[in-house]
Amino acid sequence: AATALALSVTASAALADPAGCDAGEMVIKFSHVTNTDKHPKGIAAELLKTRVNEQMDGKACMEVYPNSTLYDDDKLLEAMLQGDVQLGAPSLSKFETFTKVFRIFDLPFMFKNMEAVDAFQASDNGQAMMSSMERRGLAGLGFWHNGLKQFSANKPLLEPEDAKGLKFRVQPSDVLVAQMEALGASPQKMAFSEVYGALQQGVVDGQENTWSNTLGQKYYEVQDGITETNHGVLDYMVVASVDWLDSLDEGTRDQFLEILDGVTKERNAAIAQVDADARQGVLDAGGVIRELTPEQRADWVAVMKPVWDQFTDDVGQDNIDAAQAINA
Ligand code: LMR
Repeated sequence: AATALALSVTASAALADPAGCDAGEMVIKFSHVTNTDKHPKGIAAELLKTRVNEQMDGKACMEVYPNSTLYDDDKLLEAMLQGDVQLGAPSLSKFETFTKVFRIFDLPFMFKNMEAVDAFQASDNGQAMMSSMERRGLAGLGFWHNGLKQFSANKPLLEPEDAKGLKFRVQPSDVLVAQMEALGASPQKMAFSEVYGALQQGVVDGQENTWSNTLGQKYYEVQDGITETNHGVLDYMVVASVDWLDSLDEGTRDQFLEILDGVTKERNAAIAQVDADARQGVLDAGGVIRELTPEQRADWVAVMKPVWDQFTDDVGQDNIDAAQAINA
């Protein structure tokens, strides 16, 4: 009971007005699931909060709720449509029930590096994707980078056969389910906040994520090692409800969107450093990182890339062609 009480006191402290908003200020709640320190999304959200609270003082007041303290990603978008939260930046894998075009980002080996992801998102094809959910009430306000994903498990993974028969946590995306099935593994969709415990207790054997999430969630503590596969991308879209944006007077909306745009450009330009620092952070904390030979990597590509065929209709051949032209 003492623990439960302590937890509930902490939870209500976290839910109390962290920014100390003044009366008359419009409150902008930003809810996300990662940590804030050394994490691309955590850093960007904090920077956005600082700038909004300085430059829009008296008009708007932003509060950031990290670490799933307000909502898990599976609840966030519904809460946003209800007007209970104004901003979020879920990974692109978490928009499945609203659009299928984002599946392109989950397709394994679609983008050769983060520069290619950035260029695709900035292209006409990428920009059109931001407005793909407006008829469902959600407006995309910008892409925020995280990075490429790596696999980890409770045993060494060097060849695709090593993943066979293992249970892997995946984000709620059918592409990621198909990817794991192509490896002969058992995918299990699970909320981010539950992954560490599931790995620790052996509910799942492995997972895939970026360096910053591997560091922030300390997966290296409960995994044999992390294999540097760079097999897919995990990126975010900053999102708000169309209703909320429409409710703002034009000057307020323009000022807010301009501040957001500045943060997006600045933090996306810094992504390589944040990613490299997180990888180093995993090593410094005693995590094991295994690199693949070119031959081993080619084997993973051969097994996973055929998954594209199952999703071409969802994402559009034109989008795949545009992404591949950027890779070339
Ligand atoms: C995950 O669920 O693994 C990620 O989407 C978490 C995040 O926001 O980076």
